Amino acid sequence: MTRTILIDTDTASDDAVALIMALRSPAVHVAAITTVAGNVPVDQATRNALYTAELCASDVPIYTGAAKPLLRPLETATWFHGVDGLGDHGFAPTSRTASPIHAVDALIATIHANPGIELITLGPLTNLALALSRDPSILPHIGHCVVMGGAPCCEGNVTPAAEFNIWVDPEAARIVFRSGLPIELIGWQLSRFDAVLNPADIAQIEALATPFADFTLRSNSAAQAAYETQTGEVGISLPDPIAMAILLDPTLNLTSTYHHVEIETASELTRGMTVVDRLSVATDERNRTLWSETTRHAAPAEICWKLDIHGWKSSLISVLS
Ligand code: BDR
Ligand code: CA
Repeated sequence: MTRTILIDTDTASDDAVALIMALRSPAVHVAAITTVAGNVPVDQATRNALYTAELCASDVPIYTGAAKPLLRPLETATWFHGVDGLGDHGFAPTSRTASPIHAVDALIATIHANPGIELITLGPLTNLALALSRDPSILPHIGHCVVMGGAPCCEGNVTPAAEFNIWVDPEAARIVFRSGLPIELIGWQLSRFDAVLNPADIAQIEALATPFADFTLRSNSAAQAAYETQTGEVGISLPDPIAMAILLDPTLNLTSTYHHVEIETASELTRGMTVVDRLSVATDERNRTLWSETTRHAAPAEICWKLDIHGWKSSLISVLS
């Protein structure tokens, strides 16, 4: 049976590859794409989503959402993905335009129209936090929510404590994690080391010589260089496509456990940290008060710890063929 999904994205280079995977997958029907400010300003994210949908000959509706985090100024990642988010090669939509409806309204309407819909968030959680705050009645209609974000129990990519999507809008992330949504968390660390497309993987993708393969490599050129500078690892790291691969094929999530997660919003040092109650001590007497807002409403989130590396790369290569 085809599953219905909605993708919320701050569309830059790795987001775009995730969009290709979903738009070309027979396993899912993409009911809507909503864009949010993050990697790039929101209008650029919308342009990038439109370009990617055009490449896939998809007429999926695309809605522009929040232009800034709930309480903070926007801080982009153009230093990583390029000024246009797609490596600055001039990729621009030629025929499609975005819907005039705001993404938050579209999220609410699409969820009500598709009970049981699955969400996947590939950027800061601003749109989803706004939708949940404006219309909490959407909550029971969301069947599953894959969140690409966080650095559970490890170092982040923006600060030692935090990963970009959560760090950009920690207040929004806190609302989402406290909401009671059935969250599957795909942290940044899953896209490192062996999960990185190495030179042999890149050569294999290049040899496909399809428009999708070509776009994947070119749009990620700036990100590839920035990732090597940041981590010393050579190759293309693709956090959002890994989250999408797991959504499309849940068996790629090899090991996961369920825990309460809190988001740090007050500290400058650890802003946006995903604090995972890995030993399930949140409800112990000594922690009960501090964690009460989390444990009161939210079920534990599923935290993915281990990815099927071979399965992930095979799924990507097959969709780019
Ligand atoms: C996340 O941050 C963004 O730069 C990527 O698109 C991905 O969603 C990785 O930390
Ligand atoms: Ca993203």
